[in-house]
Amino acid sequence: MPTVRDLRAKAGDEPITMLTAYDAPTAEIVDDAGVDVILVGDSVGNVVLGHETTVPVTVDGIAHHVGAVSRAVDDALVVADMPFLSFGVDETDSLENAGRMLKEEGAQAVKLESGPHTVDLTEKMVRLGIPVMAHLGLTPQHVNQYGGYPRQGTDQEAAERMLELAIEHEEAGAFSLVLEHVPSNLAARITEELDVPTIGIGAGPDCDGQVLVFDDAVGISEWTPSFSKQFGNVREEMEAAVDDYVSAVESETFPGDAHSYEERDLEDIY
Ligand code: KIV
Repeated sequence: MPTVRDLRAKAGDEPITMLTAYDAPTAEIVDDAGVDVILVGDSVGNVVLGHETTVPVTVDGIAHHVGAVSRAVDDALVVADMPFLSFGVDETDSLENAGRMLKEEGAQAVKLESGPHTVDLTEKMVRLGIPVMAHLGLTPQHVNQYGGYPRQGTDQEAAERMLELAIEHEEAGAFSLVLEHVPSNLAARITEELDVPTIGIGAGPDCDGQVLVFDDAVGISEWTPSFSKQFGNVREEMEAAVDDYVSAVESETFPGDAHSYEERDLEDIY
């Protein structure tokens, strides 16, 4: 089982792979493929639970999915994404919520959508033994402030602030940093500046690793962001299988003899 130290050591070495997973069978597929990190993302809210955004995801909700993923994984590092307002409001609550992902649900680390408010918290968590993956750039829990999902760090001042925050989080002890929807030259500069690995999503090719949402990567999602890529068309496969099932039941060709058992001792019944 890799540790956050193994991941730290990979910075600048071979590229780090990370995908989300929210349930045990998906986690098994991702783990068996040799993916380094499985993120139980709060994207579960919009990808799986039918919410418009990640804002409604709760601590109990994410815990349920973190447990399912952790039980299925042998090799990958499992990171639990901390939901909106589960951290950063009250320190004790923040530590207990994050600690629960490790103590009760089997994650090895947590991810915090980061900002000036998470520097001290990251330091405190790390000191207590909770490894923290930071996340800068587009932080989707701020959707109501952004009014959408705009690219971040596009002017000099914002880019410099992001670089400063990245350094502050590294100094606070974060073991890696997700960079979401930022210009590739800014991601390259931050990657060069940090010792810990950067993991990009919509951040260009120069990060130490890449992350995608599983459903986007395999082609289950109906819509994917422009920076994502569908590496398969699983939705089409699923639709075809469900159509075949419906046709088979309606045409009474399923279940056939191969899927049925007749008990001779019940001849009097039927
Ligand atoms: O919740 C999530 O899936 C994420 C990744 C997109 C980084 O935060």
